[in-house]
Amino acid sequence: MTTAASSPRSVLAQRVKQRLKPFMPSWILKFHRDRAIRKEGSLYEGKSLGEVFTHVYKTGAWGVAEDQSGFYSGSSSHDPKIVEPYVKAVTEYLKALPERPAVVDLGCGDFNVGKRIRAECGRYMACDVVDAAIQSNRTRFSHLDVDFRCVDITTDPLPPGDIVFLRQVLDHLDNARIASVLSKLGPYKVLILTEYLPHSSDFTPNLDKAIGSHLRLFGPVPSGLVLTAPPFNLKVSSARILCEVPDSGGVIRTIAYELTGR
Ligand SMILES: C[S@@+](CC[C@H](N)C(=O)[O-])C[C@H]1O[C@@H](n2cnc3c(N)ncnc32)[C@H](O)[C@@H]1O
Repeated sequence: MTTAASSPRSVLAQRVKQRLKPFMPSWILKFHRDRAIRKEGSLYEGKSLGEVFTHVYKTGAWGVAEDQSGFYSGSSSHDPKIVEPYVKAVTEYLKALPERPAVVDLGCGDFNVGKRIRAECGRYMACDVVDAAIQSNRTRFSHLDVDFRCVDITTDPLPPGDIVFLRQVLDHLDNARIASVLSKLGPYKVLILTEYLPHSSDFTPNLDKAIGSHLRLFGPVPSGLVLTAPPFNLKVSSARILCEVPDSGGVIRTIAYELTGR
């Protein structure tokens, strides 16, 4: 894949930025984030989601890969402090089921996380809107028996399965597109959702935002997705928090919802 982030100079610049990030004062990070959010707003108007997220990967908005894959789904898909507790909690959840479930991973990205839980699942279907990422995954993970598909989860029919994973995908969409995805989850038994939330529980959930690489946590009023709250009102028969990891001034929560179907 030819990417802006893959020319040697820009990759080097991105890597330096990535390494310095943990040491940068929060006001510098906020300044850069706010500027990027403003830019994305106008840049992505009228674009398809395939074009938007291809651009996000090309420009290294979530960082750059250490390997040659050309795709990097962000530090929260790679940082062991975040990934390991997630893999442990989800693995325990899957192992406790009477049989290995058929899984659908929506917005699978670079599959750095999916590859870690694949063994605990039966049939595994992994979808993303970025065709080149899907093609790269097919080559890199050909040994894992995963059915990789290019799907826009907001407009295309979703593949069948028992459990649906949505890990840090919905927060990159606006509320109308999120509602469209949720309207198609009825056939699944369980949704395992992972999203950033503000640290304090005292926040207004589900504030709308434009599509792009950024999160509700970093909006003018910090927010996060609570799918059981308005305007989404997802119908669930149970909700169980599988893990919570603090990061970037918020918390990454993974929650298993038993869906009631609708
Ligand atoms: C931050 S990455 C997370 C990747 C992976 N779930 C993980 O946790 O490592 C978000 C991914 O969602 C994908 N995505 C966003 N909107 C999508 C849509 N409408 N249909 C399918 N994939 C989408 C993006 O292309 C990107 O790969």
